[in-house]
Amino acid sequence: MSQLIDAFNRKITYMRISVTDRCNLRCVYCVPSCGTISTLPSNELMSFDEMYRLVKVAAKMGLNKIRITGGEPLVRRGVVEFIAAVNKIDGIKDIAMTTNGVLLKNYAQSLKKAGLRRLNISLDTFDPKKFLAITKGDCFDKVWEGILEAERVGFDPIKLNVVPSRGVNDNELVDFAKLTLNKPFQVRFIEFMPVDDWEGWKKSFISKADMMAKIESALGKLEPVVDEKDKSGPAKNYRVQGARGIVGFISAISEHFCDTCNRIRLGADGRIKHCLFSESYIDFREPMRNGCEDSEIERLLVSVMDTKPEAHNIDMNAGSQKYLHSMTSIGG
Ligand code: GTP
Ligand code: 5AD
Ligand code: SF4
Repeated sequence: MSQLIDAFNRKITYMRISVTDRCNLRCVYCVPSCGTISTLPSNELMSFDEMYRLVKVAAKMGLNKIRITGGEPLVRRGVVEFIAAVNKIDGIKDIAMTTNGVLLKNYAQSLKKAGLRRLNISLDTFDPKKFLAITKGDCFDKVWEGILEAERVGFDPIKLNVVPSRGVNDNELVDFAKLTLNKPFQVRFIEFMPVDDWEGWKKSFISKADMMAKIESALGKLEPVVDEKDKSGPAKNYRVQGARGIVGFISAISEHFCDTCNRIRLGADGRIKHCLFSESYIDFREPMRNGCEDSEIERLLVSVMDTKPEAHNIDMNAGSQKYLHSMTSIGG
């Protein structure tokens, strides 16, 4: 059987699966500035059976890690059962989810039971009013309760994703870092990536270096932490002196990590995107609906490997054509 190794000799072991393009929030940094996101009719969504079949073939080719994303994955009915099924596929060692946490309180226990290992939860502020302004949802308390429930049922690690934006939540970076003093969480500061509004993005962008300087000036030097088991993740990790948890930075723009990329993304529409920032994809839904054999799925996966680009080319000077049209449909 062919292996998932791309043209730059990177081993692709990790698939992010967007199980839905719908979301119960409208975060300003994710959704296009018009505020509307078009969603697919249900017959155009990959069914869980189709996703399962694709993962099964990919697992034979070396895939071992799955991350369930959205939109918001917990809004799609059947996601818990899907996780339980994928968890039983030979070769799949790790299943994680990225969620906005709104529905987590009710789902944490059953996700744990289904075999989900790790949870990444988005949280950009501790201020409920600011939460409403950023996400258009009045749900700060729900999300916080969801995070505590995830901790209670034993998820470890719990990663909190913060997207700092100048003039919005940059005054809370130190508070987020302080959270790690008493909680065993990994708080990850993610460099804002451009979605649709290029000029607005440039004004709001804060680099990893600036975030670190702000935190270090309040809390002292951050000590680098290397997790031997998790070296291919995009975050560079540090510890505030004496803290239980970890502070991480995902510098997707200022120091991209494409040379260690180990991932592909399956969209809710059944297309595998070569790279978060690329427009190119290969469709799996139609061949599967037309009754293709597993060997055809394998061949298509090999062609994803052959055409995956070496790196993205977005930086502050790249020009206004280079942006994502929305994160919701891609799942980050
Ligand atoms: P783990 O390291 O497995 O915990 O997951 P992750 O950090 O890859 O997943 P998560 O969904 O929490 O993503 C965090 C941020 O990293 C999001 O803003 C993603 O868009 C971003 N990200 C994840 N993968 C990539 C990638 O391949 N390229 C770029 N540029 N950004 C990525
Ligand atoms: N830049 C950086 N991260 C983003 N996310 C969504 N939109 C952006 C963006 N423009 C993050 C969310 C979520 C993860 C999947 O992607 O915070 O945690
Ligand atoms: Fe916010 Fe995530 Fe929904 Fe985007 S997909 S609007 S980042 S909660």
